[in-house]
Amino acid sequence: MNDPSMILMVGDLTYANQYLTTGGKGASCYSCQFPDAPIRETFQPRWDGWGRFMEPLISRVPMMVIEGNHEIEPQAVGLTFQSYLTRYSVPSKDSGSNSNLYYSFNAGGIHFIMLGAYVDYNQTSAQYSSLQHDLEKVDRGLTPWLVAAWHSPWYNSYSSHYQEFECMSQEMEEMLYTYRVDIVFSGHVHAYERMNRVYNYTLDPCGPVYITVGDGGNIEKVDADHADDPGKCPSPGDNSPEFGGVCHMNFSSGPAKGKFCWDRQPEWSAYRESSFGHGILEMVNSTHALWTWHRNQDIYRENSHGDQIYIIRQPQTCSVDSKTG
Ligand SMILES: [Fe+2]
Repeated sequence: MNDPSMILMVGDLTYANQYLTTGGKGASCYSCQFPDAPIRETFQPRWDGWGRFMEPLISRVPMMVIEGNHEIEPQAVGLTFQSYLTRYSVPSKDSGSNSNLYYSFNAGGIHFIMLGAYVDYNQTSAQYSSLQHDLEKVDRGLTPWLVAAWHSPWYNSYSSHYQEFECMSQEMEEMLYTYRVDIVFSGHVHAYERMNRVYNYTLDPCGPVYITVGDGGNIEKVDADHADDPGKCPSPGDNSPEFGGVCHMNFSSGPAKGKFCWDRQPEWSAYRESSFGHGILEMVNSTHALWTWHRNQDIYRENSHGDQIYIIRQPQTCSVDSKTG
């Protein structure tokens, strides 16, 4: 794991604002089952407990973090993310970012862009211009791969958090596409899903491969319902984010034209499975990377794994200058 060309991706595993509040019991609806639980408090021993729990691993393996909704911890005077920002340092200054809530770094032939889904992402925002400057500077000769990560997925066919972050994608998707981001990792949804290359909900050979790995393990159980399962399409009012607006939409073309949910697994969703687990990205060379997703239970069977694919870049077909695929 110390090999810089092997990167472990795991999402949704801290739950600092809920850790141990239920004695480890899972809950399908936390606020229904524990209406009196102080789940939005800033209880520092909970953060320390998680740090001690992770210490054997993260004292040996470098860990790069990005915040999610469970790290917001809103306080009375409008302060947010205080525990998170105090405990975790990130190379924001080195990357030219003015905030520790979004930054970038290089590792193993990859330029990583870490975005904040719970801090202003509009095209007029500091984060947006910081991202633009960062993307302009990327040297694909030095780091051929461009990988972005943020907490909440833009492409997601589970009922949970379905179309929750459309506002963010409407602001930022075009820029990531234009600069040829190769892979996007997200969490938030407690299950695994890998998308086909997609842009603006249309299959596109130059779009990023979106992968949801919000399956690191938590007390809220695995998400198992798909928005296209009979009776499982959420009401448009169900999924509103803890930050930003609601930009739900009906599909304007394709098999789900005029509808909020598909009636089958969408064509942009390649593989989905409800299990806790993690993934490993192995960079083979400047055009090939091997992505393997492991279910937690795979450890009990030799040579067993879940989803596995080679992700292949096509820099000639999808150059940064060619803005259409
Ligand atoms: Fe989340």
